[in-house]
Amino acid sequence: MLVEGRACRAIEWDATNGCVCWIDQRLLPFRFERRATKDPEDLARAIETMAVRGAPTIGATAAYGLALAWIVDPCRFADHWLPRFRGTRPTAVNLFHACDVMERAVAEGLRGRRLIELAEDYAEREVRANRRIGEFMAECLARGRRRILTHCNAGWLAAVDWGTATAGIYALHRQGERPHVWVDETRPRLQGARLTAWEMLQEGVSCTLLADGAAAWMMARGEVDAIVVGADRIARNGDVANKIGTYALSLAAREHGIPMYVAAPSSTFDMSLESGRAIPIEERGAEELLEAEGMDESGAFRRVRLAAEGVDACNPAFDVTPFQNISAIISEQGIFTPER
Ligand code: MRU
Repeated sequence: MLVEGRACRAIEWDATNGCVCWIDQRLLPFRFERRATKDPEDLARAIETMAVRGAPTIGATAAYGLALAWIVDPCRFADHWLPRFRGTRPTAVNLFHACDVMERAVAEGLRGRRLIELAEDYAEREVRANRRIGEFMAECLARGRRRILTHCNAGWLAAVDWGTATAGIYALHRQGERPHVWVDETRPRLQGARLTAWEMLQEGVSCTLLADGAAAWMMARGEVDAIVVGADRIARNGDVANKIGTYALSLAAREHGIPMYVAAPSSTFDMSLESGRAIPIEERGAEELLEAEGMDESGAFRRVRLAAEGVDACNPAFDVTPFQNISAIISEQGIFTPER
């Protein structure tokens, strides 16, 4: 999608320089900086530190990382690099899906440049899936559902290009419709405020930021026509793990009769898990709640403390929304209504 009018992807192969390039999402929206590397460890660290984040982008990053790992360090591919990438974050199943794809390819004898091509193909397939999701989603949203609330960032930064939850919004916008997006700020890391709102501005989509706690009230006031979110892992019964706060949104949506759509490519489905109860939920550090980071007037990044010294904090990064609260799950294969 567009950054200052130029098409851009969250992660991609730079064929001219033979390296992987990604956007350091920790600096957005204040600074747009691209990074480049030939070292797989840089990509593992990018996932771990959330310089890249969002389930499909994490998967694509692991695919590129493992392709580089085979090229620079083939002897340690199985014993070091596969576990290194699999250990970077626990919840988004796309990571494990991508690692399995690369492991299988190496076992089948794919080598060198062919592994890079496979990683490129992996990323490209996610982008194609997102476009298709966008077409299905635009159908759902076109029925007068133009005031759309979204949570976290399930935009192109999170999904290589187009986004999952945002694909339908971008599709409608490019068709000349005028959707309006309520962007949940998404405490504590503020992916909504920092990333989704920035994406919307870059594409010229109308949006308004909401405090997370305001979402239910906006629904009660009749100002939300639909909710669209992404997913990090979907169990066989349709339970959905997504950014913390999604479950609360689903309860409010149900109470107010507002449709709640989940947009996710096939790589986000985990058919090995019967229900959402088995999905591993990432617990993150207390400092994400106790401190805030932003840019001051001089352009310097600053961290400030928000709570008294000695206060403890509990920080689950994801929650599970039961399938009963979801109107439809939209993947590149179609629109699924979980059986109630
Ligand atoms: O912790 P993050 O920022 O990686 O969490 C991202 C989300 O929860 C997204 O909603 C999800 O990955 C869907 S991405 C298209």
